[in-house]
Amino acid sequence: MPRSPMLRATLRSLLLTGALGACSSASPAPDGGTPAPDAGPVDAGTPDPADATPGRDAQIEGEDARLEAADFGCILEWPMVRHFRITNVRGHLDEALAVANSPTGGTYPVGTILQLVPSEAMVKRGRGFSPETNDWEFFALDARAGGTTVRSRGAQDTVNAFGGNCFSCHARAEPQWDFVCEDTHGCDPLPIATATLLDIQNGDPRCP
Ligand code: HEC
Repeated sequence: MPRSPMLRATLRSLLLTGALGACSSASPAPDGGTPAPDAGPVDAGTPDPADATPGRDAQIEGEDARLEAADFGCILEWPMVRHFRITNVRGHLDEALAVANSPTGGTYPVGTILQLVPSEAMVKRGRGFSPETNDWEFFALDARAGGTTVRSRGAQDTVNAFGGNCFSCHARAEPQWDFVCEDTHGCDPLPIATATLLDIQNGDPRCP
């Protein structure tokens, strides 16, 4: 499907005018410092037999995913779950999809990349990377036809192109959702229509 330059220009101006907004009402993480319940050491290597979600228990001890710009690419090549795109760079895509599709949530396995739009990504790092973010690393990316540039990366300090702090918004997700907001997990909604977000996603300039 051809992506019209006009649509792209409209989306760009939407982005530039800050339609994706800053998390204005969010004082940084009201419950900051309270890690999701399964981030604690108790969980390490002790799978709950009652928990059928494979999730993080699939990971290899010591495994990590410190990604570089070149590790990001066309998100339309990844499976879509509801609004977002998902992949896993450590071979745990099945486990990641099981968490994404679980009605009771779960903890995403190391190497999972989630993206709603080309310019923002959450990457699940190795256990212990950042207990406060349940080991998510947040990325602000510059995604262009020629490739990806990392604008900023980190745990609690990464901000998007409009100054919105990723962590402070995503920390509002109820703990069982592992910082994934979607539209039903307790985060403040984005001030931008879902259809527009999906247009931005479908306009990923890195896609062939
Ligand atoms: C204003 C609050 C806010 C800020 C700031 C924010 N997000 Fe989000 N983000 C959301 C909401 C709400 C959704 C769910 C949108 C939907 O599915 O309708 C979302 C969706 C996502 C998703 C898809 C998975 C999910 O959680 O639903 C990713 C990945 C993501 N954001 C990453 C980031 C990154 C990285 C940053 C910073 C560079 C960031 N976000 C900044 C609120 C925010």
